Amino acid sequence: MHQAGKPRGPIGVVMGWMMEALNGAQNRATVDALDPPPGAAVLEVGFGPGHALEMLARSRPLGLVAGVDHSELMLARARRRLNGGRGDAALDLRLGDAGDLPFPDERFDVVYAVNSFHLWPEKDRALAEMTGVLKPGGDLMLSIRDFRAEGRFEPAGRGAETARTAAEMLKDLGLQVRQREIVHSPARATLLVRGRKCGRVEA
Ligand SMILES: C[S@@+](CC[C@H](N)C(=O)[O-])C[C@H]1O[C@@H](n2cnc3c(N)ncnc32)[C@H](O)[C@@H]1O
Repeated sequence: MHQAGKPRGPIGVVMGWMMEALNGAQNRATVDALDPPPGAAVLEVGFGPGHALEMLARSRPLGLVAGVDHSELMLARARRRLNGGRGDAALDLRLGDAGDLPFPDERFDVVYAVNSFHLWPEKDRALAEMTGVLKPGGDLMLSIRDFRAEGRFEPAGRGAETARTAAEMLKDLGLQVRQREIVHSPARATLLVRGRKCGRVEA
């Protein structure tokens, strides 16, 4: 697996700096769209250096800031960042895989991933896990980058294709799906795929 998929060693350290430098606008757009209620429990899968979690925790009071990433290097880095940057929220960052989330069912109000979904080998399994740990009425959001100009890291339009696939998978899991696009430049956009888990029917 290449370094963006699991940063490690000295090159992984550089990769972490690059994520912070290059993913800021996408993380900000995602956090603004997430808009969890005050006191919410939030989970990021594939948090990398922890930039989005920090933005989220600084923007409103949260109850629990949690995350899973399979890179030990990113876990250490995000812990350093979040130890001082999350207000009064509890912190629970763990080493783990998207396909086997170490949290109880219906624990979170919001579950999301930025720039990570396209890297998961078992996407169906990971989305089922994310849906399982989400409370009824809660939102699952995937933030996917799309390059429109050739000659970048990925072929032009690959992100849009990935977002369409993600939306279909969330529908198959029974979520109510909405899609939104935030254009950063003629060559780059963030595609947000949001699925809402049906609320519990009160007795
Ligand atoms: C490209 S980085 C994005 C990091 C951050 N979300 C951002 O946008 O700056 C992808 C991150 O997802 C993590 N990751 C990739 N596949 C994973 C998996 N199957 N389970 C858990 N983490 C994973 C990587 O270790 C890495 O930290």
